Amino acid sequence: MSVIKSTSKVERLGQCQQNKTNIEMGENKASKVILVTGGTGLVGKGIEHIINTEEARPDERWVFISSKDADLTNADSTKALFDRVKPTHVIHLAAMVGGLFRNLKYNLDFWRKNVQINDNVLNTSFETGVEKVVSCLSTCIFPDKTTYPIDETMVHNGPPHNSNFGYSYAKRMIDVQNRAYHQQHGCQFTSVIPTNVFGPHDNFNIEDGHVLPGLIQKIYNAKRDNTPFVVWGTGSPRRQFIYSLDLARLFIWVLREYKEIDPIILSVNESDEVSIKEAAESVIEAMDFKGEVLYDKTKADGQFKKTASNDKLRKYLPDFKFTPFKQAIKESCDWFISNYDIARK
Ligand SMILES: NC(=O)c1ccc[n+]([C@@H]2O[C@H](COP(=O)([O-])OP(=O)(O)OC[C@H]3O[C@@H](n4cnc5c(N)ncnc54)[C@H](OP(=O)(O)O)[C@@H]3O)[C@@H](O)[C@H]2O)c1
Repeated sequence: MSVIKSTSKVERLGQCQQNKTNIEMGENKASKVILVTGGTGLVGKGIEHIINTEEARPDERWVFISSKDADLTNADSTKALFDRVKPTHVIHLAAMVGGLFRNLKYNLDFWRKNVQINDNVLNTSFETGVEKVVSCLSTCIFPDKTTYPIDETMVHNGPPHNSNFGYSYAKRMIDVQNRAYHQQHGCQFTSVIPTNVFGPHDNFNIEDGHVLPGLIQKIYNAKRDNTPFVVWGTGSPRRQFIYSLDLARLFIWVLREYKEIDPIILSVNESDEVSIKEAAESVIEAMDFKGEVLYDKTKADGQFKKTASNDKLRKYLPDFKFTPFKQAIKESCDWFISNYDIARK
């Protein structure tokens, strides 16, 4: 667990209790305690970085937790965590997450674990009087057969893509729960819908991870071993990628300012959608790879596209500037190279 106090200082594991004592003794004036579940993952680490470097506020104390602090599939562990941290606000990121190939294999696990985690976090938030919860959906949960661009009103309009139906239905139920908690109890529980996320602290595992970090590790290996770089699939599917640090800034805004229960898509503009081939070429450039590039067309492509509209976001934040894609790719590649020993891979 890491805790950020108003000074922006991150305290490592085990300091939570001490920090709580400080608050009880009046040494820390934070009136909001923000618990981030999944705080050690790609998105959580991005939020921690932005809180540390740009967004600290004296009345907020941020607590980032991992599965080692509490197994959120277990109701008792979840309750014990909330009793310990006493959050007033929750950013709920914890989930079983994976790329196309992991989803194809484990639809049942994706469904069960995510439903358990979400039910435990939302119900414990309700029972302990948490003021606001922001949970995380994903654009890959939208209906497979749809019109484009997809928007927030279309989440439940038809079955998701067959590759990840377990994950998708579990995520969709968060929106159902948010509406029900609001209708029955007036809870301020909402959700955001990011597109494909990438950045430092990603899961770079080629089999289990998402496409972009997988490409980064494959190029790293190809460079090291002097072998061809093999992209899985045709390279033609299209994706809107969002840099984890941009997503972090938007998440913090949603927590502080967004008042709706209905979800909001957090995405770059439609014109910033790129093909997997274009993404691979950006990684090649960032990693300065000069070897042979092959496309293994026997591998599945997944959903061809899932172009999302960010019109709702733009109505609220017309001037928000996303980090240019190539710059964000370069920073992610540099992070992977510098942190090779500790990176998930
Ligand atoms: N990555 C994307 O492209 C993407 C796109 C759209 C939406 N999202 C959503 O964004 C959220 C965060 O994703 P991410 O990419 O940051 O995931 P990630 O890097 O895989 O991190 C997952 C986090 O969840 C925690 N966790 C997993 N199982 C848990 C359990 N049983 N109990 C407690 N904590 C548990 C992990 O803790 P440990 O470190 O201890 O395992 C880790 O902190 C997820 O809800 C995901 O669905 C992600």
